[in-house]
Amino acid sequence: MHAQTRHRPAAALKSLLAATATALGLLAATAGTSVAADPPAAAGDALMTRARELFKPLPVTLPVVRNNAVTREKIDLGKMLFFDPRLSASGIFSCNSCHNLGLGGVDGLETSVGHGWQKGPRNAPTVLNAVLNVAQFWDGRAEDLKAQAKGPIQAGVEMNSTPDRVMAVLNSIPDYKAKFATAFPNEKNPVTFDNVAMAIEAFEATLTTPASPFDQFLEGNAEAMSAPQKAGLELFIDKGCSGCHNGVNVGGHDYFPFGVVTKPGAEILPPGDKGRFAVTKTADDEYVFRAPTLRNVTLTAPYFHSGKVWDLRQAVAVMGSSQLGATLTDEEIDKITAFLTALTGQQPRVDYPLLPASTPATPQPVFK
Ligand code: HEC
Ligand code: HEC
Repeated sequence: MHAQTRHRPAAALKSLLAATATALGLLAATAGTSVAADPPAAAGDALMTRARELFKPLPVTLPVVRNNAVTREKIDLGKMLFFDPRLSASGIFSCNSCHNLGLGGVDGLETSVGHGWQKGPRNAPTVLNAVLNVAQFWDGRAEDLKAQAKGPIQAGVEMNSTPDRVMAVLNSIPDYKAKFATAFPNEKNPVTFDNVAMAIEAFEATLTTPASPFDQFLEGNAEAMSAPQKAGLELFIDKGCSGCHNGVNVGGHDYFPFGVVTKPGAEILPPGDKGRFAVTKTADDEYVFRAPTLRNVTLTAPYFHSGKVWDLRQAVAVMGSSQLGATLTDEEIDKITAFLTALTGQQPRVDYPLLPASTPATPQPVFK
């Protein structure tokens, strides 16, 4: 079930997509998008050659997850937990409330709203392809998805629960206890907060979006992207965007100051959030954030950790001036934005899980 992130010839793409979709019971695969035919020799295509040095197509099989053997049973359980609002104290918020899988894995809000109608400090990044990021959160403070998942459950402005409360909820529901026993065989006490996080991570590992036009291009199909998209890719490389947004996730693997050349104004970069400085306490890390993945970026407005920019064209212009000291022309912005639309891949088709009923022993919702 595991596969390394590596280049696959396009010919293998279609069958692998189908195989993965069948294995996961997900309908992610081929609907709607035609997958590349046999790869033409890329030698004649200079842009393709350059792009292949900087980027990698998304793997169409499950990515490797460190210290977590991903199984069908864990994925199923993790999916239930991802959608179960009873992991929150109020019984209202699930992971899906803020990472809506019908909406590109985000909530579409400037900053998220959680427990007690509280507004959180940052924009919710997408969970799509998050498994491929070097670390989680805008400041990288969680090393992986299993470490990450424990955060929102306990955060006062998000789900406002506690590990004890989550255990009480799950132990009160016999079907959940059985599911944990199947997903974590050989464990004497499988219902643990750690295993909640492991199962959620396993499910999140399935949330990749392969076969975008850009992936098909990288796989060798020169026709997969339109002329403006290709011109945009060329600019994306020539202007230096790809210096920070590169690799398999077109970003997500390193940290940079927001404002390498010119700091954006407080209306986009509010002074109170110093980013990675809070994690490392190093002066150099003030206003440093992880360069986000740009995959599916047309689905995930508003933009930046502050969520202050709603128009992708404006986000591109801001990046030009803040990160590169370049004033991009309208035409350049149009082309780069066209390229970014080629990063929308096949969205995971997730059927809504049926969640087992509460019992009289299940802790009741609390709103304070
Ligand atoms: C109330 C809204 C809310 C809820 C509920 C919520 N999240 Fe989040 N999530 C956020 C916000 C906001 C961030 C960014 C926080 C930061 O960077 O400091 C985030 C970050 C993440 C990230 C990091 C992605 C990245 O690219 O760094 C992942 C993964 C994630 N959440 C998964 C989950 C899971 C799993 C759950 C359920 C256990 C969950 N979230 C519940 C709002 C929410
Ligand atoms: C020096 C590194 C660097 C360069 C160069 C760079 N970026 Fe970024 N990019 C970042 C960082 C860091 C962020 C996150 C900023 C924040 O919200 O704090 C970001 C955010 C973005 C976002 C917002 C994504 C989201 O989900 O909110 C877009 C779009 C983007 N960059 C596009 C570009 C484009 C287009 C270029 C070239 C014109 C570019 N970037 C150049 C580092 C860089």
